[in-house]
Amino acid sequence: MTLYSRVRPLAFTLPAETAHELGKRTLRGVQSTWPTRTALSYAYRYEHPALEVDLFDETFPNPVGVAAGFDKNAEVTHALAALGFGFVEIGTVTPYPQPGNDRPRLFRLREDEAMVNRMGFNGQGMERVKDRLERDGTPDVPVGVNIGKMNSSSESEAIEDYRRVFDRLSPFADYVVVNVSCPNTPEEFDEGSPAHLRSIFETLEAENDANVPVLVKISPDSPEESIFDLVDIVQAFDLDSIVATNTSTSREELKSPNREEWGGLSGKPIEDRSTAVVRSIAEYTDGDLPIVGVGGVDSAASAYAKIRAGASLVQLYTGFVYGGPSTAKRINRGLVELLERDGFASIEDAVGADLE
Ligand SMILES: Cc1cc2nc3c(=O)[nH]c(=O)nc-3n(C[C@H](O)[C@H](O)[C@H](O)COP(=O)(O)O)c2cc1C
Repeated sequence: MTLYSRVRPLAFTLPAETAHELGKRTLRGVQSTWPTRTALSYAYRYEHPALEVDLFDETFPNPVGVAAGFDKNAEVTHALAALGFGFVEIGTVTPYPQPGNDRPRLFRLREDEAMVNRMGFNGQGMERVKDRLERDGTPDVPVGVNIGKMNSSSESEAIEDYRRVFDRLSPFADYVVVNVSCPNTPEEFDEGSPAHLRSIFETLEAENDANVPVLVKISPDSPEESIFDLVDIVQAFDLDSIVATNTSTSREELKSPNREEWGGLSGKPIEDRSTAVVRSIAEYTDGDLPIVGVGGVDSAASAYAKIRAGASLVQLYTGFVYGGPSTAKRINRGLVELLERDGFASIEDAVGADLE
């Protein structure tokens, strides 16, 4: 029995957001001194050469990252790296601070191993995040910065929002993700329209003298034709990758009472759908476009399924909440066993193994 399996029932008696804040406070405490941070690395990191992935001109020590939303303001990035994650995506960061939606806005669906959130881009804004990254530095694993617009922004203001956050934070980023797929921010206009996407990418291209890899994060709810339209745009602008997927508005076959809450569904129930999106993109691009697979990853088998469907990297949020601090280590150790079982020398050899 792990410590977390004893603490979890207690933490789960608290409202989900309060438990999250407590967890983050603990991680902040642990990362604040060198000995505690080192002890965390020692206990939780799992290293193996077969797990290394070379992508975006970086070496990822393993393919299992923390998805956006967990560390919105770059407060616990070092602790997450010490917990053995191969990369950490901070954000979504907006230009100015934003309170997000009213609480409660985060719900556990325990029977479904899922969560629903309607946080609504709450965050401290890019200046606070920049100051923190300057002060604390970034950890020894790649860090992605996920960028978004203010909830109140019009279509043209949104373009300027992305430009400003990109300009401020890309110097700290190993990659930047444009998040146009949040299902719980007000819909002032169609964020996924091809014209809007083109304007964003044109603007960022003009701003990107340092050639920071740019990715776009998509919804699991888009029909296949819109996904392919987006992939065409991604390829036309020579973007580096697609993050598939964000949370879902669907509510199929859920058991938990909280299934009625509005917001984005994450965790187990979206696993297959997001893996299917990974596979569609990989097939459509003949494996030429790297994909970051996210949605319902909570075990080596679920991470491996996304990798075999075409993902070069995977991320998780909900699986970490349910699995606790040893999640990355458990998944990475299991991945090495799966690679050995199937005769692959590395993760990179297994990417897309299930494609025709
Ligand atoms: C509470 C919460 C907040 C999130 N916030 C963001 C966010 O700010 N930006 C973003 O791109 N995705 C956000 N996500 C989506 C996750 O990054 C991820 O795409 C989604 O949860 C599916 O992965 P999972 O099943 O492993 O949780 C959030 C998810 C949760 C549960």
